[in-house]
Amino acid sequence: MTHDRLDYDGEGLSEAQVEGRSPLEVARDWVDAAVARQAERGDVPEPLAISIASVDADGAPNVRTVLMRFFDERGPGFVTALTSAKGRELRAHPAVAAALTWPSMFRAIRFRGTAVQVGRDEVEAYFDSRPYGSRISAWTSRQSEPIASRAALEEAYERYAAQWPDGGRADDVPVPDFWGGFRIVPDEVEFWGGRRSRLHDRIVFSRTGSGSLADVDAWRVWRRQP
Ligand SMILES: Cc1cc2nc3c(=O)[nH]c(=O)nc-3n(C[C@H](O)[C@H](O)[C@H](O)COP(=O)(O)O)c2cc1C
Repeated sequence: MTHDRLDYDGEGLSEAQVEGRSPLEVARDWVDAAVARQAERGDVPEPLAISIASVDADGAPNVRTVLMRFFDERGPGFVTALTSAKGRELRAHPAVAAALTWPSMFRAIRFRGTAVQVGRDEVEAYFDSRPYGSRISAWTSRQSEPIASRAALEEAYERYAAQWPDGGRADDVPVPDFWGGFRIVPDEVEFWGGRRSRLHDRIVFSRTGSGSLADVDAWRVWRRQP
């Protein structure tokens, strides 16, 4: 497995650029830049894709990619089936790590912290904003469980679609009780900026107080070796 070696010549990140800023502000800038770049140049597909690592009951790690659906001073959040592998793992053992990676921008953000369930009101508001087909699919999938065939999955979809036909309204389909979301409440946020000759920048915000991601005083900033 070989391919051309790419020298990363991103802008990087300096201490001066984060001076006096909260991790939320810096992260928001990077997320906004990734979204804008996708709109302008199309080389950051799914800029909100975030990989979520959890551990199972034996302490073995697991990782998968979801879409970041919430991001505020409490931390990044996503929606999923609470009964999925990730749902079961995070509810039993809330230690979590996550990464947003934008290779074409030579940038990544990493989070480490604790997973907390997103409130029902937020989940319901988000669910109602999904396209009809996605709302039916949420019912259809017992996520992470085995199924005999693709056909069985499609039959289940048709059954739920017949139960709750598309009337063009947000409340056509109820929110499944097994469906919800998690938010990562971080203790550490790392900004990685790829630089030439693999001499990258890593600027880390470590929690020193109980404040939110928007609270400058709750974080210590330091540089980690690449
Ligand atoms: C770009 C992308 C976005 C995804 N978004 C979600 C999502 O928002 N929620 C979700 O549950 N799964 C999402 N998935 C599917 C997950 O990667 C994963 O297959 C699924 O959640 C089951 O994971 P688990 O068995 O570890 O719980 C996405 C996959 C990709 C590649």
